[in-house]
Amino acid sequence: MKVKILSKDQIASLGLGMAEIMAALEEGWTLRATEKVELPAKIGVHPRPDCYIHAMPCFVPKLDMALIKWAAGYPPNLGRGLAYINGLIVVNNAETGLTEIIMDSAWVTAWRTGAAAGVCARFMGGETAEVAAVVGTGVQGIATGIAFGVAAPNLKAMRIHDVLPSQLDRFVAQVGPHCPGVEFVRCQSAEECVRGADLVSTCVPIVEKPRRFVRRAWLKTDVLVIASDYDSAGRRF
Ligand SMILES: NC(=O)c1ccc[n+]([C@@H]2O[C@H](COP(=O)([O-])OP(=O)(O)OC[C@H]3O[C@@H](n4cnc5c(N)ncnc54)[C@H](O)[C@@H]3O)[C@@H](O)[C@H]2O)c1
Repeated sequence: MKVKILSKDQIASLGLGMAEIMAALEEGWTLRATEKVELPAKIGVHPRPDCYIHAMPCFVPKLDMALIKWAAGYPPNLGRGLAYINGLIVVNNAETGLTEIIMDSAWVTAWRTGAAAGVCARFMGGETAEVAAVVGTGVQGIATGIAFGVAAPNLKAMRIHDVLPSQLDRFVAQVGPHCPGVEFVRCQSAEECVRGADLVSTCVPIVEKPRRFVRRAWLKTDVLVIASDYDSAGRRF
C-alpha cells in the first residue's frame, strides 16, 4: 500500500484562493442537497472538559472518493501556544478501500468553514452589506473575514473584537491584503463590534458552559449572523 502524506504547508502551498474554495463548497452543498453524497452525522469523544475529537466520514460518488476527518478542538491550547483545531483527513480508494492519502486537516477546515460563512453571506445580504463584524479573531475569524471580503463587494468597514489585542493585529495583517479599500476597526467590546453591522460572525471557543455575551438587542433586524462557534458567543433570543 502506497500512502501519500500531505502536510499543512504542502496544502497551503497549492495557493487555493477563497473564491475558488467558496465555489467548490457551493458545489458540495448542491450535491449534498440532491442526495448524491453520503455524510453520516459526526460522532465524537470528549477526553477533557470543553474539548472534543470528532470523526466525520464521507463518500462523494462524483469524485468516487471516500474519506474521514478526525479533528480535535481544544480551547486550552491557545494558552499553550498550540492550535485550537487540529486533525487529519484520511482518503481511501473507493474501489479497493485502500488508504491513499493522509493529510493535515487544519488548513482545509479553517478555509472550508470560512468559505461556508462566505457562501451564506453571498446569498443572504452580502451584495449590499457595508459593515461586517467578527467577534473572536483567531484562525476561524481570519478565514471568515477573508470570505466576507469575497462575498461582500461593497464592504466599507470590518469591525473586529477579541479578548487578546494581539489577535486583532494578526487579523488585520492576514485579512487586510484580501480586502482592499476596507477599513478595519478594532473594537473594545463585542457590543461596539456588532451593533448595526450587516454581517456578523462569532468565532470564539466552544465550551460546555458558554457565557453567550452577544445580545440579540445589539443586532439590526436585517442582519446575517453566522455562529461558527455553535452559539458559544451569542444568544438567539
Ligand atoms: N479553525 C477551524 O478550522 C474551525 C472550523 C470550524 C469551526 N471553528 C470554530 O470556530 C471557533 C474558533 O476557532 P479557532 O480555530 O479560530 O480558535 P482560535 O483559538 O484560533 O481563536 C479563538 C479566538 O477567540 C478569542 N476569544 C476567546 N474568548 C473570547 C471572548 N469572550 N470574546 C472575544 N474573543 C474571544 C481568542 O482570544 C481567540 O483569538 C471555535 O468555536 C471553533 O470550534 C473553527
